[in-house]
Amino acid sequence: MQEFTVRGVRQDDLESIAEIEAVCFPAEEAASRDSFKQRIAAFPESFLVAEVGGKLIGYINGCATDSPVIYDELFYSTTHHNQAGENLTVFGLAVIPEFQKQGVASQLMKHFVQTAKKLGKRNIILTCKERLIRYYECFGYVNNGISKSTHGGTQWFDMTLALDK
Ligand SMILES: CC(C)(COP(=O)(O)OP(=O)(O)OC[C@H]1O[C@@H](n2cnc3c(N)ncnc32)[C@H](O)[C@@H]1OP(=O)(O)O)[C@@H](O)C(=O)NCCC(=O)NCCS
Repeated sequence: MQEFTVRGVRQDDLESIAEIEAVCFPAEEAASRDSFKQRIAAFPESFLVAEVGGKLIGYINGCATDSPVIYDELFYSTTHHNQAGENLTVFGLAVIPEFQKQGVASQLMKHFVQTAKKLGKRNIILTCKERLIRYYECFGYVNNGISKSTHGGTQWFDMTLALDK
Protein backbone atom coordinates (compact mmCIF):
# COMPACT_ATOMS: atom_id res chain seq x y z
CA MET A 1 0.00 0.00 0.00
CA GLN A 2 1.10 3.56 -0.76
CA GLU A 3 2.24 5.53 2.29
CA PHE A 4 -0.60 7.37 3.99
CA THR A 5 -0.43 10.35 6.30
CA VAL A 6 -2.68 11.55 9.11
CA ARG A 7 -3.26 15.29 9.48
CA GLY A 8 -5.72 17.78 10.93
CA VAL A 9 -8.86 18.51 8.95
CA ARG A 10 -9.29 21.54 6.66
CA GLN A 11 -12.56 23.14 5.58
CA ASP A 12 -11.81 22.16 1.96
CA ASP A 13 -11.89 18.46 2.99
CA LEU A 14 -15.67 18.74 3.41
CA GLU A 15 -16.80 17.16 0.12
CA SER A 16 -14.44 14.18 0.46
CA ILE A 17 -15.49 13.58 4.06
CA ALA A 18 -19.18 13.63 3.16
CA GLU A 19 -18.47 11.12 0.38
CA ILE A 20 -16.55 8.79 2.72
CA GLU A 21 -19.38 8.96 5.27
CA ALA A 22 -21.96 8.04 2.62
CA VAL A 23 -19.88 5.05 1.49
CA CYS A 24 -19.11 3.78 5.02
CA PHE A 25 -22.41 4.22 6.89
CA PRO A 26 -26.02 3.34 6.17
CA ALA A 27 -28.14 6.40 5.28
CA GLU A 28 -29.96 6.39 8.64
CA GLU A 29 -26.64 6.64 10.53
CA ALA A 30 -24.68 8.87 8.14
CA ALA A 31 -24.05 12.47 9.15
CA SER A 32 -24.98 15.10 6.56
CA ARG A 33 -22.60 17.37 4.67
CA ASP A 34 -23.98 20.30 6.65
CA SER A 35 -23.32 18.51 9.91
CA PHE A 36 -19.68 17.94 8.89
CA LYS A 37 -19.34 21.59 7.93
CA GLN A 38 -20.41 22.53 11.45
CA ARG A 39 -18.16 19.93 13.08
CA ILE A 40 -15.08 21.07 11.13
CA ALA A 41 -15.76 24.65 12.22
CA ALA A 42 -16.57 23.74 15.86
CA PHE A 43 -13.80 21.26 16.75
CA PRO A 44 -11.06 21.12 14.07
CA GLU A 45 -8.57 20.22 16.83
CA SER A 46 -10.25 16.81 17.24
CA PHE A 47 -10.97 16.03 13.60
CA LEU A 48 -8.24 14.08 11.79
CA VAL A 49 -8.08 12.73 8.26
CA ALA A 50 -5.96 10.07 6.53
CA GLU A 51 -4.67 10.88 3.07
CA VAL A 52 -2.89 9.01 0.28
CA GLY A 53 -1.38 11.03 -2.57
CA GLY A 54 -3.77 13.92 -1.97
CA LYS A 55 -6.86 11.67 -1.75
CA LEU A 56 -8.76 11.38 1.54
CA ILE A 57 -9.32 7.77 2.56
CA GLY A 58 -10.58 8.05 6.12
CA TYR A 59 -11.22 10.20 9.15
CA ILE A 60 -11.92 10.28 12.88
CA ASN A 61 -13.70 13.06 14.70
CA GLY A 62 -15.51 13.90 17.90
CA CYS A 63 -16.50 16.75 20.20
CA ALA A 64 -15.57 17.31 23.85
CA THR A 65 -18.02 16.86 26.70
CA ASP A 66 -18.22 16.38 30.46
CA SER A 67 -20.77 13.62 29.92
CA PRO A 68 -19.31 10.16 30.70
CA VAL A 69 -21.21 8.68 27.73
CA ILE A 70 -22.29 9.79 24.28
CA TYR A 71 -25.95 10.89 24.12
CA ASP A 72 -27.74 11.36 20.81
CA GLU A 73 -28.09 15.15 20.94
CA LEU A 74 -24.30 15.38 20.77
CA PHE A 75 -24.45 14.01 17.23
CA TYR A 76 -27.15 16.40 16.12
CA SER A 77 -25.82 19.82 17.15
CA THR A 78 -22.34 21.20 17.74
CA THR A 79 -23.84 23.50 20.41
CA HIS A 80 -23.31 20.53 22.78
CA HIS A 81 -19.55 20.70 22.19
CA ASN A 82 -17.86 21.85 25.40
CA GLN A 83 -14.24 22.58 24.53
CA ALA A 84 -13.22 22.33 28.20
CA GLY A 85 -15.06 19.02 28.71
CA GLU A 86 -12.94 16.27 30.22
CA ASN A 87 -13.91 13.61 27.68
CA LEU A 88 -13.31 13.45 23.95
CA THR A 89 -15.91 11.55 21.92
CA VAL A 90 -15.50 9.53 18.76
CA PHE A 91 -18.47 10.39 16.57
CA GLY A 92 -17.12 8.50 13.62
CA LEU A 93 -14.16 6.45 12.49
CA ALA A 94 -14.27 5.50 8.84
CA VAL A 95 -11.96 4.22 6.12
CA ILE A 96 -13.08 3.68 2.52
CA PRO A 97 -13.41 -0.02 1.59
CA GLU A 98 -10.40 -0.11 -0.81
CA PHE A 99 -8.09 0.88 2.06
CA GLN A 100 -9.63 -1.15 4.88
CA LYS A 101 -7.74 -3.86 6.79
CA GLN A 102 -4.38 -2.15 6.26
CA GLY A 103 -4.11 -0.41 9.61
CA VAL A 104 -5.44 3.02 8.55
CA ALA A 105 -8.12 3.16 11.26
CA SER A 106 -5.59 2.00 13.84
CA GLN A 107 -3.29 4.88 12.93
CA LEU A 108 -6.17 7.35 13.02
CA MET A 109 -7.07 6.04 16.48
CA LYS A 110 -3.46 6.28 17.70
CA HIS A 111 -3.20 9.90 16.53
CA PHE A 112 -6.59 10.64 18.09
CA VAL A 113 -5.40 9.31 21.45
CA GLN A 114 -2.33 11.56 21.22
CA THR A 115 -4.57 14.49 20.32
CA ALA A 116 -6.81 13.80 23.31
CA LYS A 117 -3.80 13.67 25.62
CA LYS A 118 -2.42 16.94 24.22
CA LEU A 119 -5.83 18.53 24.83
CA GLY A 120 -5.64 17.32 28.45
CA LYS A 121 -8.65 14.99 28.24
CA ARG A 122 -9.25 12.22 30.80
CA ASN A 123 -11.12 9.74 28.61
CA ILE A 124 -12.13 8.98 25.07
CA ILE A 125 -15.71 7.75 24.81
CA LEU A 126 -17.51 6.15 21.91
CA THR A 127 -20.53 4.07 21.00
CA CYS A 128 -20.16 1.11 18.68
CA LYS A 129 -22.03 -1.86 17.32
CA GLU A 130 -21.51 -5.24 18.95
CA ARG A 131 -19.29 -6.50 16.11
CA LEU A 132 -16.71 -3.75 16.78
CA ILE A 133 -16.42 -4.20 20.57
CA ARG A 134 -13.45 -6.52 20.21
CA TYR A 135 -11.74 -4.16 17.76
CA TYR A 136 -11.93 -1.25 20.22
CA GLU A 137 -10.91 -3.47 23.14
CA CYS A 138 -7.62 -3.99 21.27
CA PHE A 139 -6.89 -0.26 21.81
CA GLY A 140 -7.69 -0.58 25.54
CA TYR A 141 -11.33 0.55 25.48
CA VAL A 142 -13.59 -0.95 28.16
CA ASN A 143 -17.11 -2.03 27.27
CA ASN A 144 -19.69 -0.42 29.58
CA GLY A 145 -22.67 -2.28 28.13
CA ILE A 146 -25.68 -1.27 26.07
CA SER A 147 -25.95 2.45 25.37
CA LYS A 148 -29.10 4.55 25.76
CA SER A 149 -28.41 5.82 22.23
CA THR A 150 -31.01 4.97 19.61
CA HIS A 151 -29.07 6.68 16.82
CA GLY A 152 -30.04 5.21 13.44
CA GLY A 153 -32.57 2.93 15.17
CA THR A 154 -29.95 0.36 16.15
CA GLN A 155 -28.27 -1.01 19.31
CA TRP A 156 -25.00 0.56 20.51
CA PHE A 157 -22.48 -0.21 23.24
CA ASP A 158 -20.76 2.44 25.38
CA MET A 159 -16.98 2.16 25.45
CA THR A 160 -14.41 4.18 27.39
CA LEU A 161 -10.65 4.55 27.06
CA ALA A 162 -9.05 6.04 30.20
CA LEU A 163 -6.03 8.14 29.26
CA ASP A 164 -2.86 8.07 31.33
CA LYS A 165 -1.83 11.58 32.09
C1 LIG B 1 -14.24 -0.09 11.24
C2 LIG B 1 -13.26 0.54 10.23
C3 LIG B 1 -13.09 2.01 10.56
C4 LIG B 1 -11.90 -0.18 10.37
O1 LIG B 1 -11.00 0.42 9.45
P1 LIG B 1 -9.66 -0.31 8.96
O2 LIG B 1 -8.75 0.75 8.44
O3 LIG B 1 -9.99 -1.45 8.10
O4 LIG B 1 -9.12 -0.84 10.36
P2 LIG B 1 -7.71 -1.54 10.60
O5 LIG B 1 -7.02 -1.81 9.32
O6 LIG B 1 -7.00 -0.76 11.62
O7 LIG B 1 -8.16 -2.91 11.28
C5 LIG B 1 -9.18 -3.71 10.71
C6 LIG B 1 -8.78 -5.16 10.74
O8 LIG B 1 -7.73 -5.34 9.81
C7 LIG B 1 -6.65 -5.95 10.46
N1 LIG B 1 -5.44 -5.43 9.82
C8 LIG B 1 -4.84 -4.25 10.06
N2 LIG B 1 -3.72 -4.13 9.30
C9 LIG B 1 -3.66 -5.25 8.54
C10 LIG B 1 -2.76 -5.72 7.55
N3 LIG B 1 -1.71 -4.99 7.18
N4 LIG B 1 -3.02 -6.91 6.99
C11 LIG B 1 -4.09 -7.65 7.35
N5 LIG B 1 -4.98 -7.25 8.29
C12 LIG B 1 -4.75 -6.09 8.88
C13 LIG B 1 -6.78 -5.54 11.89
O9 LIG B 1 -6.11 -6.43 12.76
C14 LIG B 1 -8.27 -5.61 12.07
O10 LIG B 1 -8.64 -6.98 12.25
P3 LIG B 1 -9.99 -7.38 13.03
O11 LIG B 1 -11.12 -6.89 12.16
O12 LIG B 1 -9.89 -8.85 13.11
O13 LIG B 1 -9.94 -6.69 14.35
C15 LIG B 1 -13.75 0.35 8.76
O14 LIG B 1 -14.06 -1.01 8.56
C16 LIG B 1 -14.98 1.18 8.42
O15 LIG B 1 -14.87 2.34 8.02
N6 LIG B 1 -16.17 0.58 8.55
C17 LIG B 1 -17.43 1.27 8.24
C18 LIG B 1 -17.72 2.38 9.23
C19 LIG B 1 -17.74 1.89 10.67
O16 LIG B 1 -18.38 0.89 11.01
N7 LIG B 1 -17.02 2.63 11.54
C20 LIG B 1 -16.90 2.30 12.96
C21 LIG B 1 -18.01 2.81 13.77
S1 LIG B 1 -17.90 4.53 14.10
